Amino acid sequence: MTGLGGIANRSPRILVYTGKGGVGKTSVAAATALACAQRGYRTIVLSTDIAHSLGDAFGIELGPEPIQIAPNLHGQESDAFYNVSRYWGRIQQYAGSLLRWRGLDEVLAEEMTVLPGMDEIGALLWIAEHHDSGDYDVIVVDAAPTGETLRLLSLPEAAKWWMDRIEPIGRRITRLTGPLIQRVVGMPMPGDDVFNAGEELFDKLEHLHDLLTDPDRTSIRVVLTLEHVVIKEAERSFTYFHLYGYPTDLVVANRILPDEVGAYFRGWFEAQQRYGPLVEESFAPIPVLKAPFFDREVVGIPMLTEFGTALYGETDPTVHFYRGRPYSVAREGEEFVLSVELPFAMKEKIALTRHADELSIEVGTWRRNLVLPRALIGAPTLGAKFHDHVLRIRFAAPPPATGGKARGRQDN
Ligand SMILES: Nc1ncnc2c1ncn2[C@@H]1O[C@H](COP(=O)(O)OP(=O)(O)O)[C@@H](O)[C@H]1O
Ligand SMILES: [Mg+2]
Repeated sequence: MTGLGGIANRSPRILVYTGKGGVGKTSVAAATALACAQRGYRTIVLSTDIAHSLGDAFGIELGPEPIQIAPNLHGQESDAFYNVSRYWGRIQQYAGSLLRWRGLDEVLAEEMTVLPGMDEIGALLWIAEHHDSGDYDVIVVDAAPTGETLRLLSLPEAAKWWMDRIEPIGRRITRLTGPLIQRVVGMPMPGDDVFNAGEELFDKLEHLHDLLTDPDRTSIRVVLTLEHVVIKEAERSFTYFHLYGYPTDLVVANRILPDEVGAYFRGWFEAQQRYGPLVEESFAPIPVLKAPFFDREVVGIPMLTEFGTALYGETDPTVHFYRGRPYSVAREGEEFVLSVELPFAMKEKIALTRHADELSIEVGTWRRNLVLPRALIGAPTLGAKFHDHVLRIRFAAPPPATGGKARGRQDN
């Protein structure tokens, strides 16, 4: 292949599109994949959202294995049962035998072992598989709606914790007492094959996690529409992506109404005009690309091509639209420190305003609104300081939770 200025001969690029349901993730992912394929990149687009519509966007039926859609372009819609048996086979069999032992019938036991989240994790694991296969230059992911994806993306860390601490004990205990328990109460005990399968799975998850947090390979891109609720949710996930170290390089504002909307849509148009600059401000320095509200659905190759051009113009969708981690939170002794990278040096007075879970930072004419991570919501602000282009805001440890409602988990 010639003329590939961007990523030829390098490891595959992973582009993950996420956002609230209905904002246009699938359309943006499909259009992006097509644009990549048209540039000559060997591209695969896969959906990890159980509510599949990737095939609909292309107007073809996709299945659990990659299917060719266009030159250089393959597509895949994962299937829960397919993924579960592929990745969770031994574990699922064990869970099934436990459930049957508890008196559940065969079919129901089978259903029950598709634990929530497993199927989507199975779908995500395909990313690593396609990465390692060497078959593709670009992997475009149409990801599940924001909240889900976040939870799943942070799962490998939870899994690693489990692996390091619990698993060795579990293995030892079952080896010692397993045969006895099995004989006395009849409860099936997990064998080494189950533990091995678990270990293999967690290795895979860790590998996936490494790929998704590698800023050279992966870019997470947030799709939104200019509506209050959507923007709030996007800001929240944006915070979490940073906290968990998922490199985010682009925001796509979809369905922008044109100037010539009729009187009926005037109110929507004006709201969008208001929200536009706010979005730019709260996601800065991450750039915002805009896509117009088309006069028809974005379905089929010609429409998706048009959509891709409207979105990226001449720009290669695989470039890094932004590099860096504009903010992060770290624990320092008893305190938390939120660091905000500023591209320019400033010495002016810093004003911090808290409102519920939001923090507004104002320095001269520069302003940014951050949705705080859960761990910091109850934490009093102690002060802010500039050093080496980084604004550091200190928070006291949040007071312990009262009244039953669990304080959010600790985000590092
Ligand atoms: N910019 C746009 N202009 C017109 N229709 C759009 C646009 N973006 C998305 N759509 C349409 O809106 C619907 C929902 O989009 P979709 O990409 O499936 O959203 P999501 O995957 O976020 O749920 C689809 O019918 C799609 O064709
Ligand atoms: Mg979708």
